[in-house]
Amino acid sequence: MHHFQYNDGRLCCEGVSIEAIAEQVGTPFYLYSHATLTRHFQAFDQAFEGMDRMVCYSAKANSSQAVLRLFAGLGSGLDIVSGGELYRGLKAGFDPATIVYSGVGKTAAEIDSALEHGIFMLNVESRPELELINARAGALGRCAPVAVRVNPDVDPRTHPYISTGLKKNKFGLSPQAAIELYRQARDMAHVDVKGIDCHIGSQITEAAPFRDALARLRELIEQLAREGIAIRVVDVGGGLGITYHDEQPPHPMDYGTAIREGLAGLDVRLVLEPGRVIVGNAGILVTRVLYRKDGDQKRFMVVDAGMNDLIRPSLYDAFHDLWPVREAAGGQRIRADVVGPICETGDFLSRDRDVPDAAPGDLLAVMSAGAYGFTMASNYCSRLRLAEVMVRDDAFGVIRERQTYADLIHGESIPDFL
Ligand code: LLP
Repeated sequence: MHHFQYNDGRLCCEGVSIEAIAEQVGTPFYLYSHATLTRHFQAFDQAFEGMDRMVCYSAKANSSQAVLRLFAGLGSGLDIVSGGELYRGLKAGFDPATIVYSGVGKTAAEIDSALEHGIFMLNVESRPELELINARAGALGRCAPVAVRVNPDVDPRTHPYISTGLKKNKFGLSPQAAIELYRQARDMAHVDVKGIDCHIGSQITEAAPFRDALARLRELIEQLAREGIAIRVVDVGGGLGITYHDEQPPHPMDYGTAIREGLAGLDVRLVLEPGRVIVGNAGILVTRVLYRKDGDQKRFMVVDAGMNDLIRPSLYDAFHDLWPVREAAGGQRIRADVVGPICETGDFLSRDRDVPDAAPGDLLAVMSAGAYGFTMASNYCSRLRLAEVMVRDDAFGVIRERQTYADLIHGESIPDFL
């Protein structure tokens, strides 16, 4: 459920016409609906009603300041994976005590910063990382709250690039290695073993992999308890999928039931790290058709957004629906590849699909682009990073200015020897 709908043949976001925004802001741009973001966060959170829980929105999905500020205001915590995300989160107003930090490659400087700010928990992904955390905490005169990230070897049946809980993936530790690490952690002077963590992948569209992963965590928690190591926090990560096309992921309520049942009887605090399920369908990418081009074998629609703006189709062959911003009488569709201006064959938004029969100058909405859209955008081909806009009811605000050419060379210099 989202708030992008037609009103008299014009696509609107809540009460605002998208054409009107394009007129003012130019194209391409990302557009987010305040009502949808709010609703998705609240629906997710309510699925865990009554449980001792902390929903830590995953910043990597969309880390724009306005989006983060909105979630902080709704009572969300934050899941981060870099010092940059910590900085963004703190700037947007998150309480450090609600921040969890995952990732296989935390640097000493990032660990220091997390400890100095007093975040809730660091999710540890290897023995050397735990040793470094212990050393840094000692040097800073602090005690580091940690969880061990377990790789439960569960197949999330999603795209191989975004599955993370298989033995062959770089994330976390096997259950056996995790037990070993917990034993070492218990004897470390500067770490507080607080919890256990797992994240098995992203865009997961069934409840079974979550249930399986949690069952494995549970076995581990019980084994640790027998050794006198009390787990007080269970972080189940993120990963719940959304509908891009015809997927039917579990409703957050059903996902909530799976987690609730998996934790039944344990005296623990639950941490969740949802990203896509909160923001994915709350955002779109608006692009303008530049040219139509009929090749010998294919028709192309060249638009002003490229793989640097939204890389998901190129990287994962991801499906993003395309809606005309102005509904044509008859709703004509044609078979064409919708491609961007970048010099790569992989630069497409859709391929071999029937798409709205749009003419040069027409606007298209690339749907479900709120997650991993802007955050994965780049300046490739020296294209300007695009603007972002948020709508609330009948008003809209630019939440990020489009870059300028001067921004492109900001920080660059030409050394004297040239
Ligand atoms: N927690 C951890 C430790 C993660 O690595 C991730 C995502 C999340 C939470 C949030 O997962 P979500 O609820 O959004 O599925 N760029 C890819 C997705 C990569 C996901 C990486 N980790 C895409 O565009 O599909």
